[in-house]
Amino acid sequence: MPALRDLHAPNDLEAFWMPFTANRAFKANPRMISGAKDMHYVTPEGRKILDGVAGLWCCNAGHNREPIVEAIRAQAGELDYSPAFQFGHPKAFALASRIAAMAPGDLDHVFFANSGSEAVDTALKIALAYWQAKGEGRRTRLIGRERGYHGVGFGGISVGGIVSNRKMFGTMLAGVDHLPHTYDRSQQAFTKGEPEWGAHLADELERIVTLHDASTIAAVIVEPMAGSTGVLPPPKGYLKRLRGICDKYGILLIFDEVISGFGRLGTAFAAERYDVLPDMITFAKAVNSGTVPMGGVIARKGIHDAFMSGPEHVIELFHGYTYSGHPLAAAAGLATLDLYREEKLFERCAAMEPRWADAVMTLKGLPNVLDIRTVGLVAAIDLASLPDGVGRRAFDAMDRAFRDFDLMIRVTGDTIALTPPLIISENGIDELIDKVGRVIRAVA
Ligand SMILES: Cc1ncc(COP(=O)(O)O)c(C=O)c1O
Repeated sequence: MPALRDLHAPNDLEAFWMPFTANRAFKANPRMISGAKDMHYVTPEGRKILDGVAGLWCCNAGHNREPIVEAIRAQAGELDYSPAFQFGHPKAFALASRIAAMAPGDLDHVFFANSGSEAVDTALKIALAYWQAKGEGRRTRLIGRERGYHGVGFGGISVGGIVSNRKMFGTMLAGVDHLPHTYDRSQQAFTKGEPEWGAHLADELERIVTLHDASTIAAVIVEPMAGSTGVLPPPKGYLKRLRGICDKYGILLIFDEVISGFGRLGTAFAAERYDVLPDMITFAKAVNSGTVPMGGVIARKGIHDAFMSGPEHVIELFHGYTYSGHPLAAAAGLATLDLYREEKLFERCAAMEPRWADAVMTLKGLPNVLDIRTVGLVAAIDLASLPDGVGRRAFDAMDRAFRDFDLMIRVTGDTIALTPPLIISENGIDELIDKVGRVIRAVA
């Protein structure tokens, strides 16, 4: 009786195995979203939920912005899909040019993927293939960092440093090593922006080079600001020091800017804020304000050009995705970048940063608050764990925020992360921080 089954389907939560979700808890008591506009989500019952996290670090322009919606609508009517291999459509080229123009230095070639994870795996593969093309094929080691998040592909979890994302998945990539993370509460607690302490941790790369020899190392990948394990802004001077050591040994430096890209730290890319030129930047999420899946890698000219040899009819890089540069994602990206420029949202983020930092720091002294970190329009609040385990208090905070305070926050371990859309107003900041304060008291 398929007809009867279909009738029941809309209310059946069983079939969808949800990603990075406590499935049983969700299905027992769902947090359902059915609409959005600007700073708010809307529940099926019509409750307006203040979005404290730009979805998932995605919707920097706010939700359902008319110019972006219209661009997607128009594109769907004009060209739904065209093959990504051996054929092209104009908007993918236009978007690549726009992104290249926004990126610093000679980061001027864009390879499209469909997510942050694919962007990371693409960058790692380009790094390995680059050294092959240059005749230094022994350079195969990849260096990540503890507490780093680079998505969930095998490359990304291998260079990533989150234990729970790694421990169930076997041996992953061989030949990977990790830098230490840069967080030490005893040195950095309640810092606004980049902490003074910690630049020396970049020197650990020297130790890794000594162990493996530079001739075996292809690339170092770090998030300029580590986001997913609770927002760790780089110590002052750390990234410059890392760049210096990479230069000394000819190692490629990759910045994973999947969350820091497109204005989150007040500049187009964090590379600009920190005045450090990486060899590749990965991006995703806010490239089109989260509207259509898209990610990619921006590579320096020298990396791209290393592949452009041999017979012209031969494919230069055997890599790509069916949906690389998808027409809908590209159209959404062009409209989003226009909107960022017209509304000066990156500049707005930079201008708001001091007020944001002050507002978040007012939460210091609330029950269980162990540390607060802020940078750009980003903040993290570490809460003391409950005796029955890490993550319980923050899970309750996320759930109570949604149900009782009409607020969406993100949590990781017992840390609350806040990353509102860049359109947030000064009053909006006050409202958001007031709600977060009430949530923290509620789970005390
Ligand atoms: C730094 C970083 N890299 C990669 C990813 C993975 O992106 P996606 O979930 O689109 O695969 C994320 C996701 O949050 C991220 O924060």
